[in-house]
Amino acid sequence: MIEFHRVTKYFTQVNTPIKDLSFSIKQGEFVYLVGPSGAGKTSLFKLITREWTATSGTIRVGNYRLERMRTDQLYLLRRKIGMINQSDLFLPNRTIYENLAYCLDVLEISRNEQEYLITEALEDVGMENYQKYYPHEISVGQSKKIAIARALITKPPIIIADEPTANLDTKSAVEMMRLFFRINQRKTTVIVSMHDSTMVNTLRNRVIELKNGQIVRDAKEGGYSEFDDPKDVYVW
Ligand SMILES: Nc1ncnc2c1ncn2[C@@H]1O[C@H](COP(=O)(O)OP(=O)(O)OP(=O)(O)O)[C@@H](O)[C@H]1O
Ligand SMILES: [Mg+2]
Repeated sequence: MIEFHRVTKYFTQVNTPIKDLSFSIKQGEFVYLVGPSGAGKTSLFKLITREWTATSGTIRVGNYRLERMRTDQLYLLRRKIGMINQSDLFLPNRTIYENLAYCLDVLEISRNEQEYLITEALEDVGMENYQKYYPHEISVGQSKKIAIARALITKPPIIIADEPTANLDTKSAVEMMRLFFRINQRKTTVIVSMHDSTMVNTLRNRVIELKNGQIVRDAKEGGYSEFDDPKDVYVW
């Protein structure tokens, strides 16, 4: 469960990316987070992962009350959340396999188990043949898939993806969304932010719409806006 209660993130009077925000997401839900550039989507994710601390209000993620967590406990929270950022960072001089192994080293997982987990995660995203490639040798869409594999590898109960379909063609974007639906079917909570109205209108799910750091809509089977865009392609 993720619960925000009257959360505000304040930097200055004119820069308050999240304003008095309340909502809750149950375990296993699939949620689109939409809204224009600057609406506060990435800010919301930074609050969920405690990259940022809220200025006021309370945030609960599973059993953790984020405002009460000490910095040396944050690894417990981060293990519960698989995060796919707007830009994917990999160690450039290590292969895809080594990049994934690096995350597991940190968790002190044995070499044998690492091999199993890496193969499984790469198969999940259809990238099992790219283990020996270096990050600069794969395409943008492929590196997105590797970033998803990295987020999935420890099987966290929550997956957050910040605009995973940006820069992808429609076919690859749909493929990526199918992947998130498959992940969601394992009872994983999935939160995906995007600008792409076609995708949100096509693959109906709960939609939380932000504007100026506030929720302007929370719809169970929303669609990107109240009115469908005539350009929408229904591929699902
Ligand atoms: N590191 C930061 N320090 C101070 N203010 C920030 C910081 N990052 C973001 N902001 C403020 O938060 C506001 C919301 O930014 P945010 O990145 O959450 O938008 P977004 O909805 O993710 O936009 P986009 O669709 O372009 O990714 C910005 O207008 C900016 O003023
Ligand atoms: Mg953003």
